[in-house]
Amino acid sequence: MAPKGWTVHNPDGDHRVIVTKDLPGRRWLDILTAAGCRVEVCTSDDVLTVDEIAEHVGVACDGVIGQLTEDWNADLFGVLAAAGVTAYSNYAVGYNNVDVAGATAAGIPVGNTPGVLTETTAEMALALTFSAGRRVVEADRFMRGGAYHGWLPTMFMGKRFHGGTVGIVGAGRIGAAYGRMMVEGHKMNLVYFDLYPNETLERYIEEYSAFLVDRGEAPVTCSRTDTIEELLALSDIVSLHTVLDDSTHHLINAERLAAMKPDAILVNSSRGPIIDEAALVEHCRAFPLFTAGLDVFEDEPAMKPGLADLDNVVIVPHIASATYWTREGMATLAAANVAAILQGYPLWTGDDVLPFLSGDVPETAPSIVNAAELELH
Ligand code: DGY
Repeated sequence: MAPKGWTVHNPDGDHRVIVTKDLPGRRWLDILTAAGCRVEVCTSDDVLTVDEIAEHVGVACDGVIGQLTEDWNADLFGVLAAAGVTAYSNYAVGYNNVDVAGATAAGIPVGNTPGVLTETTAEMALALTFSAGRRVVEADRFMRGGAYHGWLPTMFMGKRFHGGTVGIVGAGRIGAAYGRMMVEGHKMNLVYFDLYPNETLERYIEEYSAFLVDRGEAPVTCSRTDTIEELLALSDIVSLHTVLDDSTHHLINAERLAAMKPDAILVNSSRGPIIDEAALVEHCRAFPLFTAGLDVFEDEPAMKPGLADLDNVVIVPHIASATYWTREGMATLAAANVAAILQGYPLWTGDDVLPFLSGDVPETAPSIVNAAELELH
């Protein structure tokens, strides 16, 4: 009989795989059962603690798919290794909740799910940008509250994007996709701050600018700033797309908020602790024309006191990747990571992960973040 709160699929499978939340779609489950896995899925919506996970793993387990809400620390990887686990995948592209060094020390490959969140997450960053800058949620509340008694010249004025400057902090896959959407859609100039130049993005915008000029329109520009302060001072909109680590914790603090334009828009769809949220609350109180759009929070799921009372902040519950296509794609990649490692398949070397999403599943692991450390090929 299944333990309380867990559903078992393919009970006679040879490899025991535990999945700490039910995942969307069916392809992920088909991949695991085709690989001979008995799949145990936790049916509770509660975040599992380290102890609860360790207890369920027990003494014999082969693979695990975990959530970004769980603390996959070194002790837990010790428990997994002792139980015989040889494959872990996070159901997320980000893995700041995973002690990768601890997993590596325990000899366990860590998978993630890149390549299926890019446009989806960038689109939500765009939605937050517009909602904040054009006061969509505040105006919606106004309408529902029956407060609209007729058009007025000064009602709910917001910020125009067209021709302004958009700044992206972190010009990786998602940041660059957001940047392109803002430049192409709204003819904005782009500045970015990143440890490394993104030459592909720069070339893309240079070519787009040449296309505009050919059509008799004004050019657009793209440049990398030397400092984040420079980006903050230049930008009408700042969107955060960096990973969370020690170097980016509270990257946007009180001083840096003060360095932004007083009517700027700040968007965060990466990880909450990148912003000092208490400082943001103070800043938004002091500068009512400043707006923010947040998908993630410092103490998620909690918010810092005062945040939810601010009209100039739009808040959504970490749903930037929440489209059917993306969430099912993430499930597919997480399952393919675990199934491939359990079957001894090599690593994927293709440019993108689309071949995993339909048809025959490639006999490779799509994305293992500690492959080099574990000398997996
Ligand atoms: C991720 O994959 O890291 C996202 O935060 C989930 O949407």
